[in-house]
Amino acid sequence: MTPAPAQIPAARFAGHSVLITAAGQGIGAATARRLAAEGACVLVTDLDAKRAAHTAAAIREAGGTAESAVCDVADRAAVEAAVAHAVAAFGRLDVLVNNAYAASPDTPLFEDESDDVWERDLDITLSGPFRCARAALPHLVASGRGAIVTIGSVNGEQDFGGHAYSAAKAGLASLTRTLAGHAGPRGVRVNLVAPGTIRTDAWAGRDAELDRAAALYPLGRVGTPEDIASAVAFLASADAAWITGTTLRVDGGILAVNTGFRQAMAPQEGRGREDAP
Ligand SMILES: NC(=O)c1ccc[n+]([C@@H]2O[C@H](COP(=O)([O-])OP(=O)(O)OC[C@H]3O[C@@H](n4cnc5c(N)ncnc54)[C@H](O)[C@@H]3O)[C@@H](O)[C@H]2O)c1
Repeated sequence: MTPAPAQIPAARFAGHSVLITAAGQGIGAATARRLAAEGACVLVTDLDAKRAAHTAAAIREAGGTAESAVCDVADRAAVEAAVAHAVAAFGRLDVLVNNAYAASPDTPLFEDESDDVWERDLDITLSGPFRCARAALPHLVASGRGAIVTIGSVNGEQDFGGHAYSAAKAGLASLTRTLAGHAGPRGVRVNLVAPGTIRTDAWAGRDAELDRAAALYPLGRVGTPEDIASAVAFLASADAAWITGTTLRVDGGILAVNTGFRQAMAPQEGRGREDAP
């Protein structure tokens, strides 16, 4: 069951300028809407111009401030142009949300994985946030309250499939820590959100799989884009002023609780309960 929408705090991002990648739909779009609802001016970027424009228009219709731009995070010049666009439009840049990714399906046999697929997933998922952080950092330093929030995944901490995607997401935890070490003394916080399964278009047409996955979550459901947006808003805000270099799991408990093991060991008729492995 999807929960009722959380109450949105008073304008934590009034006067803030935010750039979000891959915000044309899904988690990125929900995050753009959430930060705009809390007062941010948002540059919605995406590989797909129409999607980015659609998210920005919806924010404006709701009374918020947003512009859109095309940005492929694989392209250094496009990333630098997007950062320049945000600074020109809103006069500053306070928050970068790294949300773009690429996740190719695994081949049935690991030996058949291609260099091209491996390199593409790593380039978009791991090197993309590197390019965006590099371009944004001088402006985030100048802001005096700069924050980077990157979207990782539970795949960075446990095997859920996806060789290259998972390796890239694990790499983001390391990039988050080293960048936090570098940028902290310059007044910029850097954190990672690691979502579990979130119902977005990435799972379109796979409702039966999502329903089966929901049964593995201690909280009994898969996540919503808004579940992630609220965690991003927290980490980007002054409420997290003393938090940097960390990974926040927003995963319905799936990494903490071994549901399969618990089910296997649940008391059965004629048999006592075994709690130890
Ligand atoms: N959906 C999930 O179950 C889930 C789980 C864990 C983590 N995540 C992470 O959350 C983030 C968003 O996932 P989602 O499900 O909302 O995505 P999605 O698939 O719904 O949307 C992805 C968006 O990224 C854009 N995009 C693709 N390549 C791009 C590029 N090179 N540069 C810029 N934009 C590009 C697409 O146009 C699209 O609008 C990703 O980082 C993903 O790894 C998602």
